[in-house]
Amino acid sequence: MRRTLISIALSVVVLAAAAGLIWALADQQAPPLIQINAQVLGPQAIGPLPPVVAPPGNPPSSAKIRLGKELYFDPRLSADGAISCATCHDPALGWSDEGPTSAGIRGQLGGRRSPPVSNAAYSPLQFWDGRSPSLEDQAKGPIQNPVEMGNTHEAMIQTVSGISAYQTEFKAVYGEGPITVDQVAEAIAAFERTVVTTDSRFDRYARGDHGSLTPLEKEGLEIFNGKGHCTACHWGPYFSDGRFHNLGVPPLDPEKPDLGRYDVTKNPRDRRAFKTPTIRDAARRPPYLHNGSEKTLESLIEFYDRGGGKDPNLDPLMVPLGLSKHEKAALVAFIKSLDSLNPEVANVKPIDPRDLPR
Ligand code: HEC
Ligand code: HEC
Repeated sequence: MRRTLISIALSVVVLAAAAGLIWALADQQAPPLIQINAQVLGPQAIGPLPPVVAPPGNPPSSAKIRLGKELYFDPRLSADGAISCATCHDPALGWSDEGPTSAGIRGQLGGRRSPPVSNAAYSPLQFWDGRSPSLEDQAKGPIQNPVEMGNTHEAMIQTVSGISAYQTEFKAVYGEGPITVDQVAEAIAAFERTVVTTDSRFDRYARGDHGSLTPLEKEGLEIFNGKGHCTACHWGPYFSDGRFHNLGVPPLDPEKPDLGRYDVTKNPRDRRAFKTPTIRDAARRPPYLHNGSEKTLESLIEFYDRGGGKDPNLDPLMVPLGLSKHEKAALVAFIKSLDSLNPEVANVKPIDPRDLPR
C-alpha cells in the first residue's frame, strides 16, 4: 500500500515536471497570435520575433559579439578615422541616422536612406535593392564604399592589426594567423544579430497582455490588418515580406531616378522597386522611405491614403484607402506601439572612443 502511494506520488511529480516542461516549451515558442487577412496575404501572422538563427559558418560567442560591437563603433575602420558604422546606424536614432540620406566620409552624401541595423538579422536580403545575401557579406561593403567609410580593406586590416588589444581579441576568437576582412565582417554580423527587439507594447499585447495597447492603438492594428491592407506587404514578425515593391516614391533626381531592385535583377517589373522595410521602431527613425522623402509618419500615412505616388510600374496593391482623420491617427498610434522596450536596442550607448581597444 505504502509502495503504491509512493509510486503514485512519484508519478504525480514526474507528470507535473513533464507538464511544466511542456508548458515551458510551449511558452518559449509562443506562436504569433494575431492572424492576418488570409485571402490577400498568405499564412504569415504578425507577432513577436522568433529567436535569431545564426548561419552555421558564423556561430556566435560572447567574445565574438563583444569584438563585433567594438568594430561597429570604431571610426578607425574608415579612411579618415571619423566614420564608424554607428555614424549612420546610431542606436539613439533607431539604428539609422537623421537622413534624408546619409553623410559619409568628408560629408559626402549617398543617394539612399540608412536603413536600421536593428532586426536586420531577420531580413533575407540586405540593402534597399537586396543586392547582398547576408550580414557578413553586407558588412564588408561600407568600409570601402567611397562615400561611406572611404577605406580599402587592406588599409583597414593594417590599422586593426596594428592595435595590440585587437590582436589579442582576434586571437581569442579566431586563433592564430593574420586578421582578415572576413573575420571583421563575421564579428560585426554576430554583434548585429544581438540587436533584436523582443519586447514592445505590441509584442506584449500579442503575447496576451491585452491592456498593453490603448483603444486607439488597437483600432490602428485593426486598420493595419484590414482597411489599410498594410499587412499585404508588412507581414510576419519582422513586419516585412522581404520582397520589393514600387510605391511610386518620387525620385530625388527625376533625370537619373534610382532604379532600385532593377539594378540587381534587370527585370523590368523591378524598376524602382525597393525592399519592404520593417516598421518596428519606425517612430524612432524619421524620415521615411528609401530616399527619406516623407518627413513624418503622419505625412507617410497621407502618402499611402492617396494610393502612393505616380509610376508606370506602381505596385497593384497601392490603391487609395479612403481613411478618415481618426483612422490615420490610429495607424500612427499603432506604429508607435512597435517601439522596442529592450534597453540593449533602444538605449545602447555608443562605445566611447577612449574605451575602444588600444
Ligand atoms: C555613411 C553612412 C553609412 C555607414 C558609415 C555605414 N552604413 Fe550601413 N547603410 C547605409 C545606407 C545608406 C544603406 C542603404 C544602402 C542601399 O540600400 O544601397 C546601408 C545599409 C546597411 C544595412 C542593410 C540593412 C537592410 O535592412 O537592408 C546594414 C545591415 C548596414 N548598412 C550595416 C552597416 C555596417 C555594419 C557598417 C559598418 C561596417 C555600416 N553599415 C556603415 C549607410 C551607412
Ligand atoms: C505594396 C506593398 C506595401 C503596402 C501595401 C504597404 N507598404 Fe509600407 N512599405 C513598403 C515598401 C516597399 C516600403 C519602402 C518603399 C520605398 O522606400 O520606396 C514601405 C515603407 C513603409 C514605411 C517606412 C519605413 C522606413 O523605415 O522608411 C512605413 C512606416 C510603412 N511602410 C508603413 C505602412 C503602412 C502603415 C501601410 C498601410 C497603410 C503600408 N506600409 C502598406 C511596402 C508596402
